Amino acid sequence: MTTPSIPTACVIGWPIKHSRSPIIHRYWLQQLGIAGDYVRHAVAPEDVGAFFRDFAKGPFIGANVTVPHKEAAFAAVSRADAVATALGAVNTVWLEEGALVGANTDAPGFLANLDQLAPGFDSAGGPAIVLGAGGAARAVIWALKARGFAPVHVVNRTRARAEALAERFGPGIEAASFEDLPALLPHAALLVNTTSLGMQGEPPLEIDLGPADDRLLVTDIVYIPLETPLLAAAKARGLRTVDGLGMLLHQAVPGFEHWFGQRPVVTDELRALILADI
Ligand code: ATR
Repeated sequence: MTTPSIPTACVIGWPIKHSRSPIIHRYWLQQLGIAGDYVRHAVAPEDVGAFFRDFAKGPFIGANVTVPHKEAAFAAVSRADAVATALGAVNTVWLEEGALVGANTDAPGFLANLDQLAPGFDSAGGPAIVLGAGGAARAVIWALKARGFAPVHVVNRTRARAEALAERFGPGIEAASFEDLPALLPHAALLVNTTSLGMQGEPPLEIDLGPADDRLLVTDIVYIPLETPLLAAAKARGLRTVDGLGMLLHQAVPGFEHWFGQRPVVTDELRALILADI
């Protein structure tokens, strides 16, 4: 690969062509007047080890890492931040004195989005419900635990996966099933969907929000469509909602700052830019 003439970061994944990350980083580069670039870079699973091993040789100054390479990135870095270490997954890498360093910005990104779109909410704390038990659920559970939500009920179709997460994260994290929701909802302060249900092309997530407390905040990490059937149902029930787009935008902030040296801001204009592309 030829070395680009300006500092260039990338997002790797397999497949990668649908990633919106270039829109985000190019917007910030332009806003801040920085001569740099950010590109999609497809890396097949069999090539990911070599990609990280040779990273310091160029051409990239840093990278975001998406599915299915986050665990491989964690294994490849010489140092990882506390979140990445807890999750065993890295989504952002950069070089420090030639060594590859990694972080997981999904969990902080989730919290930053809540803080921006529901200011003051987190101080309320209280019990939370996380729907799903995959990689996204892990990041959200870590974030909620860090913020002091307790207990965090992990509700999953395959209960054994919820139980595995409860065991991994320890006290305060409890496995549950969808049948438990009517009993859990009246006490919950926050409900987060991390399943793929409600995503464009997937079946809707159908849960009865009737028993929920009126103060329940409902958030979805799905952002295509922006208003998922879950968020629409929550609004119809008069509940506060936070959509998932901001998590994508906020998780991008630390990487940009590491690579290009300035901390970018998640603006309404940036949200509109991504929405125009969806
Ligand atoms: P990710 O890493 O993006 O979170 P994942 O590991 O594939 O993705 O997890 C997808 C989540 O959506 C899982 O919690 C999955 O439930 P199972 O563990 O039971 O598979 C959930 N999910 C996907 N399709 C679902 C469906 N039709 N009904 C209920 N849950 C579903």
